[in-house]
Amino acid sequence: MTSTFTTAHRIVTGQGAFNDLGTLAARIGRTSLVVTGRRAMRDAGVTDRTLALLRAAGLDADVYEDVPPEPTIDSVDAGVHRLRQRSADVVIGIGGGSAIDAAKAIGGLAHADGDCATYFRGKALPKTGVPVIAVPTTAGTGAEVTPNSVLSDPATPTKQSIRGDALMPVVALVDPNLTVSMPPNVTARSGMDALTQAIESYWSLHATPITEGLALHAVKLIRKHLPKAFADGADMPAREAMAYASLMAGIAFANSRLGAVHGLAHPLGIRYHIPHGQVCAILLPHVMRLNRQAAPEKYDRLSHVVGGDAADVATGLLERLEIPATLKHVGLNRADFDAIVAESMPSGSLKANPKKVTEEDLVAILEALA
Ligand SMILES: [Fe+2]
Repeated sequence: MTSTFTTAHRIVTGQGAFNDLGTLAARIGRTSLVVTGRRAMRDAGVTDRTLALLRAAGLDADVYEDVPPEPTIDSVDAGVHRLRQRSADVVIGIGGGSAIDAAKAIGGLAHADGDCATYFRGKALPKTGVPVIAVPTTAGTGAEVTPNSVLSDPATPTKQSIRGDALMPVVALVDPNLTVSMPPNVTARSGMDALTQAIESYWSLHATPITEGLALHAVKLIRKHLPKAFADGADMPAREAMAYASLMAGIAFANSRLGAVHGLAHPLGIRYHIPHGQVCAILLPHVMRLNRQAAPEKYDRLSHVVGGDAADVATGLLERLEIPATLKHVGLNRADFDAIVAESMPSGSLKANPKKVTEEDLVAILEALA
């Protein structure tokens, strides 16, 4: 069996890397559209700094900052409209996973002949779009190196990915200095998203030696550094290690796919309005125990790397990071189980899970969390 490994053309990392934004963008285009979330980036001064760096390098720069916390297909259409109005030839996505996912969808659909809903419902994406530079300000999603964009349609309501080569950022610019202002609860849940992605990539049915190496080292870094970054946001070695871990987990899972945590996380997240990293963190120990017998060698290797039974260590991390261990606090309702399971079963993530997951397996996990 053959496999292909793909990632961003260029990955620039390290403290201060953000200062290279203008130079990197000027190699690609002349007219930039900065895509970012509402207010947070402007309040932190990041939006102004981004525009200043681009203009200092001779680029025309406009900003689209109406990306909601869960990017919707309508918000992507509005961004594409802005991009076309400005004839932008490079998109800068800066923020958490949502802003970067919106930026990738806007760049990827720049030359599309239908609206975002058309592609959300399954039409193949155009082969090329406007290139995207992705600049994460959290450490978790790995969105800076993945060829997909998680979007929602509030009308149905559904949350799922659109995917295609044109969504892969051409440049991932990862500066841990940008993650320092993340509050502890965001540090915790985005870090647990990275841990989940690393573990699900590691034992995915599509894992390769390349993805396994990246994923396992990410697990090791997160185990050591996430509690430190949570306890002290100004701990730069911890912030830097988490930025690398998130990046490596992202590179890995973009090539290996994910597993049952992510299969269940989207229907649960949209139904009960739970942040993605938090729902992943809560599901993780349960899915790990489910997979233990299907992937015993990898389970033991994970346990060796984290220094204890792998699922127990994941549970211990939840407590240390002050994340609840169940979904009682969001009102998880048994009457919803059939619908949640039905929405999870077709997920591509579930198909990559090492254990072939049954409806009964999913119900048992939900029961344990109710
Ligand atoms: Fe995730």
